[in-house]
Amino acid sequence: MIKAIRFDKTGGSDVLQYVDYDLPPPPAGQVRVRHTAIGVNFIDTYHRSGLYPLPLPSGLGSEAAGVVEALGAGVTSFKVGERVGYCSGGLGSYADANNVPADRLVKLPDGIGDEIAAAALLKGMTARYLLRQTYRVSPGETVLFHSAAGGVGMIGCQWAKHLGVTVIGTVGSPEKATLARANGCAHVLLLREDWKARVREITGGVGVPVVYDSIGKDTFEASLDCLRPRGLMVTFGNSSGPVPAFPPSQLAAKGSLFLTRPVLFHYVATPKELQENADELFAVLLSGAVKVAVNQRFALKDAAKAQDALTGRKTVGATVLIP
Ligand SMILES: NC(=O)c1ccc[n+]([C@@H]2O[C@H](COP(=O)([O-])OP(=O)(O)OC[C@H]3O[C@@H](n4cnc5c(N)ncnc54)[C@H](OP(=O)(O)O)[C@@H]3O)[C@@H](O)[C@H]2O)c1
Repeated sequence: MIKAIRFDKTGGSDVLQYVDYDLPPPPAGQVRVRHTAIGVNFIDTYHRSGLYPLPLPSGLGSEAAGVVEALGAGVTSFKVGERVGYCSGGLGSYADANNVPADRLVKLPDGIGDEIAAAALLKGMTARYLLRQTYRVSPGETVLFHSAAGGVGMIGCQWAKHLGVTVIGTVGSPEKATLARANGCAHVLLLREDWKARVREITGGVGVPVVYDSIGKDTFEASLDCLRPRGLMVTFGNSSGPVPAFPPSQLAAKGSLFLTRPVLFHYVATPKELQENADELFAVLLSGAVKVAVNQRFALKDAAKAQDALTGRKTVGATVLIP
């Protein structure tokens, strides 16, 4: 029997229950991971609220680090006792342990602690595909990255700066602005000011080649107005709610813009892609080019409090649960 967060109906954080759960032995092709640290991500709140529906009852959480405890039939790529992490397959990470497909696990290098792995895998791999694949940034470019003091944002802005990019970041408060400035942003704009006008000003009226927007509903329209002609709008989250439907002709009117709505899983769908992404992330973490801290820690049983802090904009950087 393990302890796990589970839910049988969607809703607010009060639907989350801390229960005894009978985790079966790992099936063929899977590995049982005993967790030491669990990542908290905005997607967990979409699963809980029903924005991204799951069959219920269900476990929750996509990311954790820990130790291999048992191997399902046919697994030869891992050994019991090895340090591993995952973030793209293996729902149910809000628990003492979880069964995860072996091809969704990565080995953790020495030098990357479990809490940092749980804080950085999902957010860091997201930052990596956004900056290196969705729109491959080049040195000298100026880009707009929303939620610069958030989990993905703090990694993304440092990484973009490391790649020679001038980052304009947005944040919700002056305290977060200080943090964003210390983490890669050359310019930090408050969401309550006219940030769209400021982006135009900073770019000499031209606009940016790419906007990384995870806020969604509240910022979508104005983000389009920050792009230069033929620029790329990357809408990759719904922190303020999902973007409503809109006519494609708007993209024409605003300068033959491109639009994409990417998801991490499609960038790490094969074991090779997953490993390549993880290797690049580990390299920037180990070199110190990107620094990740655990900014909030909660006990596993307090997962609801952790989620309320995240949706209530009370967190900065990364949040982990400790089982
Ligand atoms: N598509 C993908 O592959 C992918 C992967 C990972 C994450 N994401 C998305 O990226 C975003 C960031 O994830 P995260 O886990 O790192 O979260 P986070 O950025 O740490 O937290 C969300 C931040 O959004 C900002 N925000 C602005 N308006 C908000 C509102 N109305 N309600 C709540 N927050 C608001 C807040 O920062 P301020 O107070 O500074 O405004 C808040 O701290 C999420 O939307 C997530 O779904 C997408």
